[in-house]
Amino acid sequence: MSPLSGKNIVLGITGGIAAYKSVTLLRLLVKAGAEVQVIITPNGKEFITPVTLSSLSGRPVISEFFTANTGEWHSHVDLGLWADAMVIAPATASTMAKMACGVADNMLVTSYLSARAPVFVAPAMDLDMMAHPATVRNIDRLRADGVHIIEPAEGELASHLVGKGRMEEPEGIFRVLEDYFSAGQDLAGKTVLITAGPTYERIDPVRFIGNYSSGKMGYALADEAAARGARVVVVSGPVAVRPENPSVDVRHVESACEMLAECEKVFPEAYIAIMAAAVADYAPVSTAASKIKRERDEVPVIHLKKNPDIAATLGQAKRGDQVLVGFALETDHELDNAADKLRRKNLDMIVLNSLRDAGAGFGTDTNKITILRPGGIRTEYPLKSKKEVARDILDNITGKSPLV
Ligand code: CTP
Repeated sequence: MSPLSGKNIVLGITGGIAAYKSVTLLRLLVKAGAEVQVIITPNGKEFITPVTLSSLSGRPVISEFFTANTGEWHSHVDLGLWADAMVIAPATASTMAKMACGVADNMLVTSYLSARAPVFVAPAMDLDMMAHPATVRNIDRLRADGVHIIEPAEGELASHLVGKGRMEEPEGIFRVLEDYFSAGQDLAGKTVLITAGPTYERIDPVRFIGNYSSGKMGYALADEAAARGARVVVVSGPVAVRPENPSVDVRHVESACEMLAECEKVFPEAYIAIMAAAVADYAPVSTAASKIKRERDEVPVIHLKKNPDIAATLGQAKRGDQVLVGFALETDHELDNAADKLRRKNLDMIVLNSLRDAGAGFGTDTNKITILRPGGIRTEYPLKSKKEVARDILDNITGKSPLV
């Protein structure tokens, strides 16, 4: 049975081309056994007819405050209380701006302001509108207000331009909702910061110092935390993986210094910070402005400087209400080295994986971990998929798994 069975969902539809996709979303929700009440904005009706929506949902579609011929008043307060979740898909720049500022001039925004349930928003617009500082500001505002933003994908847009702004596919939105209701929502309303992937330290315009980290463990943690209701920010080095859960906010960086700067912006809001990135320990003292050429007599010498230690820097800034978790990938004296890092970086927990264990480490889909906490508390886990390992780590952080 779907976790959405029996749930009351308010589906808000606004005036964007992607409104036709909301029909598929509505069908998926109804098929899963949810009760769906559609609220459409006046502009939304230009894109899709209420008749289609009411026949699929089995309920009259609400758009105005009053039904014109009977004068019947629709109570936004009742709807706000009835809903177990509200999802607005597609959400135009204009609707998000109204939501961010509390401009209650239509039934949808009024219901949003009365809703006590979690609210999910799937933006859809042209790439330039999406990138405009006003839209970025409004989306940030909504995030800060606790709204779950279902990130738009990159792709061809209605304008035929290619870029970010395409509404997440209905199946993706449905999955976010299913994940939300299936997982224990033990991280609802909390911000989780995760670093992932390698860092690249530039030598010249075409070369860098890097490492083999795939980012898979960090992204698996991001998906698991999002499924538990967290607002997740991943500060990611260059990787090929993407989060499965479109509500994960990925901030792409390249070098250790850029990663630190982005982490420092998010860390004050974070309840949990997990340092899963393989940060390069050293960077070239200077980056050559042009490509270093081969046709010269002497072999070039690259002078290195120490990179900042991101985990240790956050460890210094950590408040008592924050949990800081590190990783240790070791080849020798694994437990001693990990315990030493736990102390040195002022971490609350360190996840040790040994390169000696088959199936653990870079690029694999599995991992074998031991979790260490201060005071010599240690939990060993068998080889598992990175998805299951992510669950174990978050269970351990939230105190769900027994400590050994
Ligand atoms: N880390 C970090 N910033 C760095 C180096 C490491 O945030 N500049 C974090 C990693 O993300 C990981 C933890 O610190 O969570 C341990 O990383 P690791 O590379 O194992 O430790 P180092 O301190 O680099 O020690 P060494 O390379 O000597 O093993």
